[in-house]
Amino acid sequence: MSDAIRDLLRELEEFGERNDREHGDRSRRMLNLTREAGEFLSVAVRASRASKVLEIGTSNGYSTLWIALGLGLDGGSIVTVERSDHKVGLAAKNRERAGIEGMVSQYHGEAGTFLEECADHSFDLVFLDSDRTEYVAWWPNLRRVLRPGGALIADNALSHPDEFAPFQRVVESDPEFISCVVPVGKGEFFASRVGNSGE
Ligand SMILES: C[S@@+](CC[C@H](N)C(=O)[O-])C[C@H]1O[C@@H](n2cnc3c(N)ncnc32)[C@H](O)[C@@H]1O
Repeated sequence: MSDAIRDLLRELEEFGERNDREHGDRSRRMLNLTREAGEFLSVAVRASRASKVLEIGTSNGYSTLWIALGLGLDGGSIVTVERSDHKVGLAAKNRERAGIEGMVSQYHGEAGTFLEECADHSFDLVFLDSDRTEYVAWWPNLRRVLRPGGALIADNALSHPDEFAPFQRVVESDPEFISCVVPVGKGEFFASRVGNSGE
């Protein structure tokens, strides 16, 4: 990792902590994943040999940067979805600073709408870090857009177990998926779909 990327990650971590302490209004908080979860996400992207990644819940782009690191900063592509005008603006600036704007497409809008519009098997890996109460409703489209052999990672499995459990049960009962919860950060739910890469 270059010094510039290392410094930017540190800066975003400090900004996120300070910002989220100062803002009572949840919609103004960055709610970034932890550094350890970012490292895990990066390694998971690399190890699964993903090249097309979907992120739902951009915020200011902190986790996008970890995904990009997993992709090697110049290979692969990321589509990231965010509905907040304010956060979309911050994320664009951070992508530019990191020099990853060429590999990232921002969808500015509702994740449910985006998923409806997406073609089957469009992504190798989906990272879910958004409105947990919607995950069960999104599941038919999430599994449709994920290619066979693909992976899904979702944040907050341990920090918000009551909200997360219905989604976890749906994925666990799907015969095409195996899954586990990795106790890193706020709890990363990690699911893998059967099938061969490139199918
Ligand atoms: C936990 S934050 C994402 C943090 C980010 N992944 C990171 O670690 O840097 C969740 C984000 O999802 C966005 N969000 C929530 N529900 C959404 C929806 N239905 N469609 C699009 N974005 C949504 C929120 O505006 C918020 O910025």
